[in-house]
Amino acid sequence: MASPRDGGVVILGSGLIGQSWAMLFASGGFKVKLCDIEQQQITNALENIRKEMELLEQSGALKGSLGAQEQLSLISGCSDMQKAVEGAIHIQECVPENLELKKKIFVQLDPVIDDKVVISSSSSCLLPSKLFAGLTHVKQCIVAHPVNPPYYVPLVELVPHPETDPSTVDRTHALMKKIGQTPIRIQKEIDGFALNRIQYAIISEAWRLVDEGVVSPSDLDLVMSDGLGMRYAFVGPLETMHLNAEGMLSYCDRYSESMRHVLKTFGPIPEFSGATVQKVNQAMCEKVPDDPQHLAARRKWRDQCLLRLYKLKREMPSE
Ligand code: NAI
Repeated sequence: MASPRDGGVVILGSGLIGQSWAMLFASGGFKVKLCDIEQQQITNALENIRKEMELLEQSGALKGSLGAQEQLSLISGCSDMQKAVEGAIHIQECVPENLELKKKIFVQLDPVIDDKVVISSSSSCLLPSKLFAGLTHVKQCIVAHPVNPPYYVPLVELVPHPETDPSTVDRTHALMKKIGQTPIRIQKEIDGFALNRIQYAIISEAWRLVDEGVVSPSDLDLVMSDGLGMRYAFVGPLETMHLNAEGMLSYCDRYSESMRHVLKTFGPIPEFSGATVQKVNQAMCEKVPDDPQHLAARRKWRDQCLLRLYKLKREMPSE
């Protein structure tokens, strides 16, 4: 757990992702300053965090070794970004996904930060070479992309700028581990990083199968939720290959030809428009009507499932 001499963390943007980061850093014992341009948003964010932490504590799912009240006392709101970053060890930017807005913030920070603090962006898909271009402190800049909801899904993709110092990557990796997340290193920048590239490959083939009338939208989702997804929560696709034969070499020997045969039949990138959108939308709305109440209730259920899965993963011995 962090001690006061470890220094504090600043979160820029107190929306959905900023609030989750604030809770995660507080669970690791770090002092957190939560900044936003909207004063009312800071007030709302602090209230959401308080309610969420109290519920988590009641259900025995609060992360870290401190109680909810102790964690809450580590988080404070702040509207003066430049003042907030004084003496911070880590700045986690969580403003909306807009390149110009993010760049403007980094350009404002560049002259006021010291040579040690890490500037980390939560961006889902903006490349570090675009986000941090021309900054004096580019060696201290990195993307740390979380997965929604970050409190229950621990993966964080670390994506350096080509000029990011290796020590920045190492420090961010260590910090993420300290707050209970699972950092991975993306060794060179690429559109979509790793998670979204894999996610989009899955969405693409799912769409084509529905589009071509091979499977209904609701059955397609079961392929993942009651099929592949069950094992992928514990064992990744490469280890699955290793286990589904007598090791990886045996798997490639046995199945590479049939895999290549199937892969050659994959169609082009879908347009995600026209009659297939209507078909998929109708099936989804029959299951979860797309009004705010039903969507919020289903998200809450999803988060409860992820919370239980997170607990199960922690309880299971690693072998
Ligand atoms: P959001 O819209 O919920 O929150 C953004 C917050 O930033 C708002 O409170 C807004 O008032 C504040 N803000 C706007 N301009 C600001 C400024 N100049 N200074 C300080 N605060 C400012 O956005 P969300 O969903 O939290 O996303 C934040 C980042 O995290 C984006 O880059 C997004 O791509 C990334 N991300 C989002 C995920 C998601 O599922 N929502 C998942 C992973 C990453």
